[in-house]
Amino acid sequence: MCGIVGYVGRTMDDTALNVVMEGLARLEYRGYDSAGVALVTEDGVATEKRAGKLENLRSALEAHPLAPSRTGIGHTRWATHGGPTDGNAHPHRGGDGNRLALIHNGIIENFHGLKKQLLAEGVEFSSETDTEVAAKLVGREYDRLGDLTEAMRAVVSRLEGAFTLLAVHADSPGVVVGARRNSPLVVGLGEDANFLGSDVAAFIGYTRHALELGQDQIVTITPDGYEVIGFDGTPADGKAYEVTWDAAAAEKGGYETFMEKEIHEQPHAVADTLLGRTDDEGRLVLDEVRISEEQLGQIDRIVVVACGTAAYSGMVAKYAIEHWTRIPVEVSLAHEFRYSDPIADARTLVVSISQSGETMDTLMAVKHARELGALTLSICNTHGSTIPRESDAVLYTHAGPEVAVASTKGFSAQITAAYVLGLYLAQMRGGEHAVNAQAVMRELRNLPEHIQTVLDRMDRVIEIARFMADSRSVLFLGRNVGYPIALEGALKLKEIAYIHAEGFAAGELKHGPIALIEPGQPVFIVVPGPDTPHELHKKVVSNIQEIRARGARTLVIAEDGDEDVVPFADEVIRVPATLPLLMPLLTIVPLQIFALHLATAKGLDVDQPRNLAKSVTVE
Ligand code: F6R
Repeated sequence: MCGIVGYVGRTMDDTALNVVMEGLARLEYRGYDSAGVALVTEDGVATEKRAGKLENLRSALEAHPLAPSRTGIGHTRWATHGGPTDGNAHPHRGGDGNRLALIHNGIIENFHGLKKQLLAEGVEFSSETDTEVAAKLVGREYDRLGDLTEAMRAVVSRLEGAFTLLAVHADSPGVVVGARRNSPLVVGLGEDANFLGSDVAAFIGYTRHALELGQDQIVTITPDGYEVIGFDGTPADGKAYEVTWDAAAAEKGGYETFMEKEIHEQPHAVADTLLGRTDDEGRLVLDEVRISEEQLGQIDRIVVVACGTAAYSGMVAKYAIEHWTRIPVEVSLAHEFRYSDPIADARTLVVSISQSGETMDTLMAVKHARELGALTLSICNTHGSTIPRESDAVLYTHAGPEVAVASTKGFSAQITAAYVLGLYLAQMRGGEHAVNAQAVMRELRNLPEHIQTVLDRMDRVIEIARFMADSRSVLFLGRNVGYPIALEGALKLKEIAYIHAEGFAAGELKHGPIALIEPGQPVFIVVPGPDTPHELHKKVVSNIQEIRARGARTLVIAEDGDEDVVPFADEVIRVPATLPLLMPLLTIVPLQIFALHLATAKGLDVDQPRNLAKSVTVE
């Protein structure tokens, strides 16, 4: 999830640079690990790029101004392959004399294979990114074909994964070519100037006439107009529309808040976290995990350390990893782990989970685990952050930057990465474990589509949330992997709606919490799929009956086709059927939407709830 801008105009002056920098400032919410620009000048392509915030690039450009230009591209990066360094910042160069510059948003899944081929042919690389492979390939094709659009077309069909690419070439002034697959790209149509952007925020200061591109399309912009073709070369039309948002709304993709936008980004967050995790034979590969298979093979215990929402993703991980691998997994709040005199050694894998990678409690737990001699692996969303740096290995989630304080897409991506880790360990164990892992991985790939289905069905949940804006207390129940979802549903409501909310394991009800039930008490129940082992489905249906009999208002989240819950539910919220252990990726969505809309109905600032910070960098 990076931000990209492209511009072509008629006059050779500072306009191209100014437009690109302004676009990058508006897109910085999409990534702020590094930023860079490339301009086609009289003397060829000039680039400047810097790790860190856009400010660093701005200072570098002030110190070393670039020559006038009418053609430019710019990039603000959220690192996926390769850490956030100057060298890994975009643009990347390719072709004879490095006369081509290219920027990229997305993940090129097959870049390892392509890079190997290029290295064998003597091509030299100056970064660790997947992007540079595309730059080298497009540059080479330009040298062969002499046309930027055709060069792009010759390469895109060789790339797998998700990508938006923009390229300029020293020998094609006044031309920017873009290509997209599973990653956004919009065209801005101006007067004597045209624009490209990963969203309309990139050019909203200049034009409101926009053009939406289809999947697998290439667009060429010049000051006089644009041309769209498919990857197969056939001419295509974009869909023209007028942008009605203001600049602030444009950054949020038209959503009212970042939290709403991020909830809706979950299908992508999950899909992107799964990208590049399997080889051609469908076997899981984890390139970032720098612990040898031999060391991993010796593990006899896993301890997950995390805080808040991340700890709840760890609880989901426990159920899944234990079931798939039979390795015992404990979950410990990081601050409790650190000071509990914990037991860990070289056969313990301590998995930390953190969106920001900066949570001090989690960092301290990781450092202590290393002191004890444990192997440490970080599941993290932020490249170059402290926790992955302090760990033996890292498995990155690819949710893109999370701006809203309350974590949503970060959570889904954490669960996804934990599944991937569990399935990888199961594959390593071989035999039946490995066969099962393949089947689960196949189903996991369907989850982004299922999440979208849930999001498309949320009208009733929004109504319920608005209707419940005056509630003083809401309870959440779940069993097995539904239990952490109940806890997370309650946390979301506490955090952004400031309502008393509690999550319980449904089996615990009779041991105390049922005393809280009085007529009208709203209770969400996360129901396991009917195929969940140990008759858990039946047991939860009994729990619903018990609280309904005492007057609770039952809001039931159940799988499509589960009719057993209907007689005891005041509301049934449906999610598509999937494997029992994968259900959290679906059942959390209505609870996030509920909290969001209830808080909104109360007129609260959902992106920045009171008393909370996005990263908690003190103990
Ligand atoms: C809740 C939330 C927090 C974080 C927790 C850990 O919505 O965002 O509970 O999950 O502070 O943060 P990270 O994942 O950055 O370590």
